[in-house]
Amino acid sequence: MEENIILTKHINKINPMAIDDYIKVNGYEALKKVLKDDPLNIIKEIKESALRGRGGAAFNTGIKMESVYNEKETDKYVICNADEGEPGNFKDRYLMENNPHQLIEGIIIAGYAVGSTKAHIYIRGEYDKSKNILMHALKEAKERGFLGSNIIGSNFNYEIEIFSGMGSYVCGEETALIESIEGKVGRPRIKPPFPTVKGLFDKPTLLNNVETLSNIPYIVLNGGSKYASIGTESSKGTMLISLSGNVKRSGVFEVPFGTSIKYIIGVLGETTFEKIKMIQLGGPSGPIIPLEMVDLKIDIDAMRKSNLSIGSGAIIVIDNHFNMFEILRKNIRFFEHESCGKCTPCREGIRQIRYILSLFVNNLANQSDLAMLEELTHYISETSFCGLGQAATNSVASTLKYFRSEYEMRIKK
Ligand SMILES: Cc1cc2nc3c(=O)[nH]c(=O)nc-3n(C[C@H](O)[C@H](O)[C@H](O)COP(=O)(O)O)c2cc1C
Ligand code: SF4
Repeated sequence: MEENIILTKHINKINPMAIDDYIKVNGYEALKKVLKDDPLNIIKEIKESALRGRGGAAFNTGIKMESVYNEKETDKYVICNADEGEPGNFKDRYLMENNPHQLIEGIIIAGYAVGSTKAHIYIRGEYDKSKNILMHALKEAKERGFLGSNIIGSNFNYEIEIFSGMGSYVCGEETALIESIEGKVGRPRIKPPFPTVKGLFDKPTLLNNVETLSNIPYIVLNGGSKYASIGTESSKGTMLISLSGNVKRSGVFEVPFGTSIKYIIGVLGETTFEKIKMIQLGGPSGPIIPLEMVDLKIDIDAMRKSNLSIGSGAIIVIDNHFNMFEILRKNIRFFEHESCGKCTPCREGIRQIRYILSLFVNNLANQSDLAMLEELTHYISETSFCGLGQAATNSVASTLKYFRSEYEMRIKK
């Protein structure tokens, strides 16, 4: 497994507050290498690596970079999405707090590749510690000539600014995030145009997740094909898993794609399976699967074929002490609270779902409530304007599929 560890290799071995520690483990060598190179070669390597975004949608990173590169505008931006607002996800915080220079180096390389001169890190408002560590790391990088004007004598100038979010989950959605940096209300924009064409201040913008960008130094130094040799046919490289809930050992674990959920919970989480009832993948916006599916492997496309997703890598283990309907109601309350209110299916529909779930919690639901729940779940995901509404009912939809007998039983009661 050791050769399959990329992002966490140096964690706990280097001091995140000391740039020299990062330099000693080949830090900023990837930047030195690319500054002598044609930006198109970097994009070629990233495309060869088949790296896909780790913010949830799993879009091909090389293709996104190429789109921004191809835009004719002279002003372009990079945005690092460090909002990490979905409960159960904490791997971006882990990366920022334990290896901030790996991320900073990835951002500068991405900026050089697409032809931008400025990046923003949009960081979750509650992440004070991550923010302070990043600010210190940015200062150190500037002092050593890896940021600012004429980076390592290359004529390339780069600036990175940190922007704090204000606790709104929807501002993690890329276009709402851009609106927020622009000083507007954080509500999603219509797409297209995509941010690669018209992003921040209407300029072409490369927007990527913390983990996605942190992979770039490794790919540059080791080659895209080496990265692509790890993982499965459709999902290359490794993924950080935020493991939490009813496990003996929770935390962030880096695994190659293709690793089973059983291995993550049983071996990495040191947990036995007798009491486990459900596993939620990705956070409240993800599906809930029964223990019988624990052999499932982490693989983006294979999971999609079964209508499943791991989102940003959260695995929340739930044992049989918990009432499934209360968990679902909690999930739905989160989205009700975080809905920006722009579109009716999400704003009103989620409220109705919460109401019907309360009927199930209190054994007051009947067959027509179940039919309405099923219908609403479908229509909210099909008609909501942005990913928040589209994914808000995934947990309900998956339990209607995998735990249907529990609904029927509640109705009989
Ligand atoms: C409601 C909502 C919240 C999101 N929150 C985050 C987030 O906190 N961090 C993140 O990287 N992506 C988040 N995303 C996904 C982003 O819109 C975007 O796809 C992602 O940042 C792109 O980066 P990637 O290609 O590296 O995955 C969110 C999407 C939605 C719909
Ligand atoms: S789906 Fe929800 S969060 Fe997204 S635009 Fe509509 S109301 Fe706002």
